[in-house]
Order: sequence, then C-alpha cells, then structure tokens
Amino acid sequence: MKIFLFSSLILVFIIVLTVSFLIMKLVQLTRENSLIKEKIKFAKNKINSARYGNFQIKLNEKNDSLGLYKSLNNLFESIYDRDLVINEYREKEKENYNLKEEFIAALTHDLKVPIIAQDKTFDLFLQDKFGGLSDIQKEVILKLKESNNDLYEMVNSILETYKIEHRGIELKIEKEINVEEFLINCINGFENVIKPMGKEIHFHSKTPIAADFDPFLIKRVINNLIMNSIKHSTKTDKIDVHLNKTADNFSIDIIDYGEGIDEENIKKIFNKYYSITNKGARVSTGLGLYLSNKIVKKHKGSIEVESKKNEGSIFRIILPIKQN
Ligand SMILES: Nc1ncnc2c1ncn2[C@@H]1O[C@H](COP(=O)(O)OP(=O)(O)OP(=O)(O)O)[C@@H](O)[C@H]1O
Ligand SMILES: [Mg+2]
Repeated sequence: MKIFLFSSLILVFIIVLTVSFLIMKLVQLTRENSLIKEKIKFAKNKINSARYGNFQIKLNEKNDSLGLYKSLNNLFESIYDRDLVINEYREKEKENYNLKEEFIAALTHDLKVPIIAQDKTFDLFLQDKFGGLSDIQKEVILKLKESNNDLYEMVNSILETYKIEHRGIELKIEKEINVEEFLINCINGFENVIKPMGKEIHFHSKTPIAADFDPFLIKRVINNLIMNSIKHSTKTDKIDVHLNKTADNFSIDIIDYGEGIDEENIKKIFNKYYSITNKGARVSTGLGLYLSNKIVKKHKGSIEVESKKNEGSIFRIILPIKQN
C-alpha cells in the first residue's frame, strides 16, 4: 500500500513537472513568435519606405538571430549604390540632350541662313541688279536657284525628322478648310517645275469638302507625294490628283504612270532614309515618305500605295473629315 502511494506521488510529480515545462515552453514560444512578428512588421515598414526611393536604411543587426536584418541591409545598400549610378547617368543624359538641342538649334540657323542669303543674291542677279545677264547666264542662275531650293528642302526634312522624333508632332489644326482650294493651291506651286518638263497635273473632284487638318503639315505631305510622282515619271507627261469623300473620311489619290515600284521595295519606301531616287543632281534624303506617314498617322489617317513596275503608282492619303 505504502509503495503504491509512493509511486503514485512520483508519477503525479513527473506529470506536474512535464506540464509546467510544456507551459513554460509554450509561453516562451509565444513570446518569441510575437517578437519575430514585430521584427517582420518593422522590416516591412522599412521595405515600404524603400519603395518610395529611400534606400538609406540601416536596420539594427543586434539580436538578429535569423539574419533577416543583415540580408535586408545588404540589399538596401546595393540598391542605393545602383540608384546613385542610375541618377548619375540620368543627369549626364539630360546634359547631353540639352547640348544636342542647342546644337540642332544652332545648326538650323547656320545652315538655313546662307542658303536663304544665296537665294536672295540669285534673285538680284536675275533682276539685272549687277548688270545685264545673257540668257545662258540666267539659265545657269535658275539651275543654281533650283539646287539651292533642293538643299533647303533637304535641311528642312532632316530638321523636321529630328524635331518629330525628339519632340513629337504638334498639330496646328485649322477647322473646315476647303480641300479643293487647298489642293489646287498645292498643285499650282509646281507650275515652274512641271512646265519645262512638258508635264501636266490634272485635278479631279466631285464634291467640295470642308475638313479639319494642319494645312502646313498636310501641304508637306502632298508636296512630297507630287514631287515623288514627278521624279518617277520622266517618260510620261500626266499626273492625276483625285479628291474623294466617304461618310467620315476624305481621300486624295496622287497617280502617276511612270516607273512604278516593285513589290519587294514597296515594303521599304516608308523607312527612314530609304531612297532609290537618282535623278541627276537632285538631292534626296529618303525622309519624304517617312515624314509623310508620321504626319498622316498623327491626323489619325493612313497612306496606301498601289504600284506596278513600269506602269505607275497610286499614293492614297485617307484622312478623317473632323478632328477632335
Ligand atoms: N511615285 C513614285 N514612283 C516610284 N517610286 C517612288 C514613288 N514615290 C516614292 N518612290 C520610291 O520611294 C522612295 C522613298 O521616297 P521618299 O519620298 O521617302 O524619298 P525621296 O523622294 O527619295 O527623298 P526626298 O523625299 O527626301 O526628296 C523613293 O526614293 C523612290 O524609290
Ligand atoms: Mg520624296
């Protein structure tokens, strides 16, 4: 009986000891758990503040049994270093951009001014201000004036491309432009070019159209398309310009019956600097269609081409009648 009582007491003692040990362990674990939670919460706040660019963070590595703060400190340090390098690059890039802008502005001025001055001088020669000129001399001056104009156009195209690529196209939309009048005006501008060639540009229109567009930029497009059809139809003497209207759009077709473009090259003609024009001394940049396409797209329109080698080409500009 005594032995039974004694062994029961020892058993109860062992049970009490085990239970109290387990309770102590549980309390310790709960405390550790809440400590870890606190540490993670603190780290989370720091990571959040790093999201807004603050990488100069140093977490206290004491009692960092998990090595969490140490790893985070290393991460923040390397991000901070990279951020410094990126900022340095950005500053340099900005500096270079400003330098380039200044250089282009100076170049525009420096290239255009002498060309304009030469043109004015040629005019004075043609007006006999420096004494009378023979017919041959006048012809030479006219040729010089023409290539001067080509050069001016080339400088303009290069600068226009630069502007469009760096600043985008800014449309100056004019409302309800009389498209017939506008096109006749563009075509008349070619009189001096086509007359000596014995060429004619025929304009066809069924209904008057009043449309919204940037007249300066669309004139640039029309001029390039007409100039292209003149340059590429030396053996034929007719170019047709058709104006048509649908419910929301209008289209302008510029049609020549000249050399045409083969299928393989049609894909390339809107590429920057693509040019296989080789017409005597005329300068070509291969920027005409590239720029035209960008200008028309900016108006939410499109340019379509149909062409057959040795039969001719149709370049169709489709533009919305209304611009918001
Ligand atoms: N009507 C056309 N007929 C045949 N080929 C054409 C016609 N229009 C354009 N092309 C081809 O497309 C190329 C690109 O035309 P684009 O207007 O872009 O440049 P370019 O006329 O050569 O140069 P730039 O317009 O600067 O004077 C031309 O070189 C030519 O090969
Ligand atoms: Mg061209």
